[in-house]
Amino acid sequence: MLKMAKIIIDNVEYEIPDGSQMAATCENVGIPFSCNSGVCGTCQIEILEGAENLNELNKEETDLAMDRNHRLGCQCKILCGVVKVTY
Ligand code: FES
Repeated sequence: MLKMAKIIIDNVEYEIPDGSQMAATCENVGIPFSCNSGVCGTCQIEILEGAENLNELNKEETDLAMDRNHRLGCQCKILCGVVKVTY
């Protein structure tokens, strides 16, 4: 059985499999996306809790000066557990 992680965006919970990209969930709830490839910065999200449950920042994110609590919705992955997000 797939293990599920939980993303809480503005207090609404969404379950996605451990290790999944967060992009589709973020986009479905209305977080604005543009390039989908880590270049424009439109999809920036703020991590309120559970930053340690995300993958390490990738090059696109560090190039746009993101940090552990500011990530690109189109680039980051949830590894496991719960991550609380706003935008
Ligand atoms: S949509 Fe452009 S950086 Fe994520």
